[in-house]
Amino acid sequence: MGNLVVVGTQWGDEGKGKVVDLLAEHADIIVRFQGGHNAGHTLVIEDKVFKLSLLPSGIVRQDKVSVIGNGVVLNPWKLLEEIELVQSQGVNIDPSRLMIAENTPLILPYHQALDQSREEVTDKKIGTTGRGIGPAYEDKAGRRAIKVGDLRDDELLKHRLAIAAEYHNFDQQQLFNQLAHIKEHVLQYVNDVPLYLNQKTDLGFNILFEGAQGSMLDVDFGTYPYVTSSNTLAGMASIGSGVPHNKIPNVIGITKAYTTRVGEGPMTTELFDEVGEHLANVGKEKGTVTGRDRRCGWFDAPQVRKTCMLNGVTGIALMKIDVLDKLETIKICTDVHNGIPVYEELPGWCTSTIGITDYSDLPRLAQEYINRIEQLTQTEVVLISTGPERDQTILLQDSFF
Ligand code: GDP
Ligand code: IMO
Ligand code: MG
Repeated sequence: MGNLVVVGTQWGDEGKGKVVDLLAEHADIIVRFQGGHNAGHTLVIEDKVFKLSLLPSGIVRQDKVSVIGNGVVLNPWKLLEEIELVQSQGVNIDPSRLMIAENTPLILPYHQALDQSREEVTDKKIGTTGRGIGPAYEDKAGRRAIKVGDLRDDELLKHRLAIAAEYHNFDQQQLFNQLAHIKEHVLQYVNDVPLYLNQKTDLGFNILFEGAQGSMLDVDFGTYPYVTSSNTLAGMASIGSGVPHNKIPNVIGITKAYTTRVGEGPMTTELFDEVGEHLANVGKEKGTVTGRDRRCGWFDAPQVRKTCMLNGVTGIALMKIDVLDKLETIKICTDVHNGIPVYEELPGWCTSTIGITDYSDLPRLAQEYINRIEQLTQTEVVLISTGPERDQTILLQDSFF
């Protein structure tokens, strides 16, 4: 028994949502601890597709509690919209199963406007999702953020808005009125999250922490400045929720069997040829949040080895192996010399792996590809994903908690 954090080891969109949804079966509480609605986590459950940006992926399981921790930046309108959308898909959400930490900073309209206008005027675009994530985290560090708990007290809220208005250009009264309109809807979910989570973990409940983005987008360890504005590594699960790090022993690194990236910035193994196009088409590599095409490339082993080290990954979930099914040759980057990838070539298996649930049913060449990834990343593969659906999965471990 223990707590578990799920993080992306690449540039996001590795398939975290699918794995969190799957592993949530054995969890009691699912916690988002960083990022905001820049995330796009797709869950495919029988005939339903859920696209979640802000709500933890555990929300679709009615018997679980979902938590938004203080490390998240929260757009309150987007939250209410997403709650409504998920409810329209047949999932009931109420304060008994959704909690928000009171010290979670808000994303307000001026953050989004700033994010978008910066991207428009510069010739050095980051390719952000335009959701106001960066400016909201800047305000948190700059001590001028409005926290969700501030909505409880009108005088305090006015005071905090006045402080923000010293820096941002907006109509204080208008924003106060807009917030007054929604505050009761949001405040019903606000709670003492650190106390709740620590009490539950001490009682032996299992907590599953759901990372957003990927390790290469981490503001400290990623491809700076082409990163997001939060720490995305497993260590953030503690800071972003109030559960001490020594109570989170297990780390699953969600890893695509190839590489993708959305937005600007370096990507060593990027392909500009028909193989890249093939990966994009077969893998349906289009961003959930912005609809942008994802850049595709071969598996970058030194990069994943490094992010497994940084996160303390205890097991890799290797995703989208089926996307490689039709390739005659598969390359793995084993080293990088002066920014140029060094590749090893492996023969493709050229047969369908879609929906396989038993390791022994995988073609031998697919097993060899997976073994090679384990060797090169120096990390064990504990789960293999063979399709977008919950049960299109090979579990190589009995328990993940
Ligand atoms: P996340 O941001 O890490 O949660 O990943 P996304 O949901 O943005 O992107 C992963 C996409 O791949 C989603 O559309 C999933 O439904 C899909 N997916 C997940 N696992 C697999 C898999 O093993 N095979 C295939 N073909 N698709 C998968
Ligand atoms: P999930 O959780 C992939 C990227 C953006 C941009 C950079 C900064 O679905 O894996 P931001 O809006 O965060 O300031 O943009 O980070 N980015 C993601 N890329 N998956 C994500 O989330 C991402 N969230 C942000 O494309 O390059
Ligand atoms: Mg995504």
